[in-house]
Amino acid sequence: MNSSHPFTGLMAGLRPNRLVIAGLIGLFIGLAGLSAQAEEVELAKAEKDCLACHDKEGVKKTLQNGEVLSMRISTKAYVESMHKENSCEDCHADLDAKTHGKVKSDIKSKRDFTVSQGDVCKECHKKKYAQYDDSVHAALIKEGSKKAPLCSDCHNPHTVQSVKLVQPIEATPCVKCHEPIFKAYSKDVHGLERVAKGKSAPLCSDCHQAHDVKAASLGEGVKDTCIGCHKEALAQHADWLPNTGRHFAAISCPACHAPNAQRRVNLRLFDGATNAQISEKSGVPQFARLANDADAKGMGLDERALWSLLKEFSQEGADNKTVLRGRLEVRSGVEAHQLSEKSKALKDCNVCHKEGASPFQSVTLTIAGPDGRPLRHGVQTAVLSSLTSMDSVRGFYAIGSTRIKLLDILLVLVVAGAVCVPLGHMTIKRLFKGVRERLEAERLAAQHAAAAGAPQPDETAPK
Ligand code: HEC
Ligand code: HEC
Ligand code: HEC
Ligand code: HEC
Ligand code: HEC
Ligand code: HEC
Ligand code: HEC
Ligand code: HEC
Ligand code: HEC
Repeated sequence: MNSSHPFTGLMAGLRPNRLVIAGLIGLFIGLAGLSAQAEEVELAKAEKDCLACHDKEGVKKTLQNGEVLSMRISTKAYVESMHKENSCEDCHADLDAKTHGKVKSDIKSKRDFTVSQGDVCKECHKKKYAQYDDSVHAALIKEGSKKAPLCSDCHNPHTVQSVKLVQPIEATPCVKCHEPIFKAYSKDVHGLERVAKGKSAPLCSDCHQAHDVKAASLGEGVKDTCIGCHKEALAQHADWLPNTGRHFAAISCPACHAPNAQRRVNLRLFDGATNAQISEKSGVPQFARLANDADAKGMGLDERALWSLLKEFSQEGADNKTVLRGRLEVRSGVEAHQLSEKSKALKDCNVCHKEGASPFQSVTLTIAGPDGRPLRHGVQTAVLSSLTSMDSVRGFYAIGSTRIKLLDILLVLVVAGAVCVPLGHMTIKRLFKGVRERLEAERLAAQHAAAAGAPQPDETAPK
């Protein structure tokens, strides 16, 4: 954004007098060097000792696991960093001046050392720390992950520059651990726009946050963030997509905007009363065990297994309030970052609204794990069209993709209706209301039947 630095402009303008300028610049640099030295001397009062040993070529330490940790801190980079006002001791208060550098310290591995310094930033950056502490990354660290990031994985404390500077997209710290996603992103509509036009298009942290990173498919996912920038999205889709709100609630944006992606239905467990996504009861991982028990052959959960799992995860005291929320999404993280320009987006109703539609041929059940990330188990596709489970899969069926023929006919009406709006509109709404009411009645009947024949809790209890 500051590409037109006044100095660069000056240089370009004065090219003919190159020699004179070069001389002037030499003088200028000389003076700047003097003042930088003056600054260094000031810095050195506290830091000189440390840097005398640590800004030497080749200072390093072999750790217990054989890794070599470079001990070199560049004075130049430090003086230019955002932490130049800080003393080394602000962050390295735990060093013992008497023995330091003379007695070898025990450090197992690079990772161990990083983790041991993990709380250093807390005092001065309380707000960022609190946000980070609530993230999926921090949850992973607490679980003992060796791969999730700490502050210093994303910000080198000795060289950190202002994050407000425009950077090449490759400089975003997310790249080093999410490389396949970065590669996809850099070629998608936002990555290309970001490179061409700068900050108006989102980089990773604009959609996921930098510190308060949450599992991407949790709750509403990043939908609201998309709409935050694309404020007209709802209205623009309403021009051609009936019941836009419902479609937006039931389909993740990339499911239509990554045109070549494979799609699937994700059934997510929600507490019907509080509307919160249900997560693994902390400490006692049981989802994987229950799901594996119920699906010994690995064919995917059938209706009955799904039903008893639902019961198992119902909150204490609540009267089977657990519901499933269906959501159509892409199958992989990479595909979620292959968004294309609008002309390539999925507009063909038939891709979803026809019998045997491909997005409905892959179904998973998810629950939020202790770190907020989804735990998955496969579900048999027949579950989607069965009425008994319709109870729990409330409000999620794509017309035409199910066995319910009446709905297929309605779709034809809807497509026709889209041509002759607004007359068709009210009628369609009313028709759907009728169908919904009928389904609701059948659902209640089915629920009663199921409740009567359902396994008792102790029959399904773990052995
Ligand atoms: C006399 C040279 C010397 C000075 C002065 C010195 N260090 Fe070190 N420092 C070392 C050596 C040598 C090691 C590696 C020790 C080892 O092998 O265990 C080290 C290791 C470290 C480490 C790695 C962690 C650890 O405990 O081994 C940090 C951090 C560190 N120094 C920071 C500082 C800071 C901050 C200062 C100034 C307050 C400082 N050092 C001053 C020589 C020095
Ligand atoms: C803003 C906090 C902060 C300041 C200021 C700071 N350090 Fe560090 N330093 C850290 C952290 C955090 C680590 C651990 C980084 C990691 O994970 O490798 C570290 C690591 C080191 C290491 C081990 C080598 C490495 O890069 O991991 C040395 C040596 C060191 N610091 C020296 C210094 C010296 C000398 C100064 C002052 C000129 C200084 N530090 C100032 C936070 C700081
Ligand atoms: C997963 C990578 C990542 C981790 C971990 C991370 N940050 Fe950041 N941080 C970023 C990115 C990217 C930005 C710039 C974009 C932004 O602020 O949204 C940033 C910005 C910042 C800023 C400047 C904010 C501003 O608006 O001026 C501070 C300060 C900061 N981080 C401190 C921390 C501290 C302290 C921690 C640890 C508690 C931490 N960060 C952990 C990626 C990370
Ligand atoms: C002793 C206080 C102190 C500690 C400890 C500290 N910082 Fe800072 N940090 C500062 C100050 C002061 C600034 C510059 C002022 C500002 O925020 O604009 C700064 C700036 C930053 C920035 C750049 C913010 C921007 O505006 O772009 C980042 C990123 C950052 N710190 C990360 C860290 C990380 C990571 C750690 C832990 C390894 C850490 N800091 C530890 C005081 C501290
Ligand atoms: C335009 C917004 C946007 C940007 C920019 C973006 N993402 Fe995503 N990201 C998403 C969406 C949407 C999903 C899928 C969420 C869902 O299932 O609904 C996702 C999913 C993810 C996931 C989870 C993948 C999985 O396996 O479930 C990760 C990790 C991720 N993104 C990292 C990144 C990284 C790293 C970058 C930068 C290179 C980035 N994202 C840039 C929107 C974005
Ligand atoms: C030091 C490595 C590291 C860095 C740097 C890092 N991540 Fe992660 N991240 C992980 C690991 C490990 C996981 C858990 C495994 C997974 O889901 O890929 C994770 C998980 C995630 C998830 C949740 C995935 C899900 O299931 O929905 C998101 C979103 C995410 N990261 C985004 C980011 C963003 C945005 C950045 C940069 C601001 C970033 N990560 C930087 C290692 C890292
Ligand atoms: C059912 C598929 C579908 C879903 C779901 C969907 N879109 Fe679209 N979107 C499209 C199609 C098709 C177009 C191109 C419409 C046209 O032909 O003008 C489009 C156009 C757009 C445009 C360009 C609008 C314009 O007219 O310039 C944006 C921005 C957009 N979508 C964002 C989103 C966001 C954000 C979401 C999620 C909240 C989303 N879309 C969900 C299919 C979808
Ligand atoms: C930080 C703002 C921002 C966020 C967040 C954001 N976008 Fe965008 N998006 C842009 C910009 C800028 C462009 C390129 C200019 C344009 O076409 O509007 C763009 C382009 C698009 C296009 C292509 C539109 C066309 O005309 O071809 C689609 C589709 C799109 N975004 C969908 C999404 C989806 C889906 C999300 C969330 C996963 C999202 N955007 C999040 C800013 C954003
Ligand atoms: C990416 C798949 C997908 C595409 C493309 C799609 N739909 Fe849908 N549609 C769904 C799903 C899933 C639902 C179920 C939503 C729910 O019940 O929450 C749905 C629901 C509906 C409903 C019923 C809404 C209600 O109130 O129950 C109508 C009508 C509809 N779609 C018409 C269309 C038309 C017309 C098009 C093409 C212009 C279209 N859809 C394109 C997936 C899709």
